[in-house]
Amino acid sequence: MRVMIEDETGTGYPGETGGRDDGADSSAFVRMGTLAELEAKGAINRRILARWVSVFAREGRIYALEMSCKHHGANLGEGKVDGHIVTCPRHFWKYNIVTGESLTPGSPHLRHHDVRVTDGIVSVSIQPMSRRED
Ligand code: FES
Repeated sequence: MRVMIEDETGTGYPGETGGRDDGADSSAFVRMGTLAELEAKGAINRRILARWVSVFAREGRIYALEMSCKHHGANLGEGKVDGHIVTCPRHFWKYNIVTGESLTPGSPHLRHHDVRVTDGIVSVSIQPMSRRED
């Protein structure tokens, strides 16, 4: 279940109930970086289990998506982001980074990862979710 949680800055971000980023359940979530780093950069890209995953901060919410293009696997973290749309740097397929939806007809969507912010640390679930619920 996705909920709004409060971090020490008092800014609401989506997260998952339960658990802390203290290593107790590190098999389920991976640390991506600090909230301050994410707010400064706008996105953080990391490889998780041989897949690129990026977290984006947009309009007070955080989203985590696989970042390997569904065409030939280019790193979408190196693509151009305009609003909620990321464009693949190789052949210019476009995806909505909020929904993961591909804007190229007939191509698959990007998978989401659950996001958790605890004590200023942004973590994402190792296993992707099949479909965004909100
Ligand atoms: S690898 Fe992304 S559009 Fe071709």
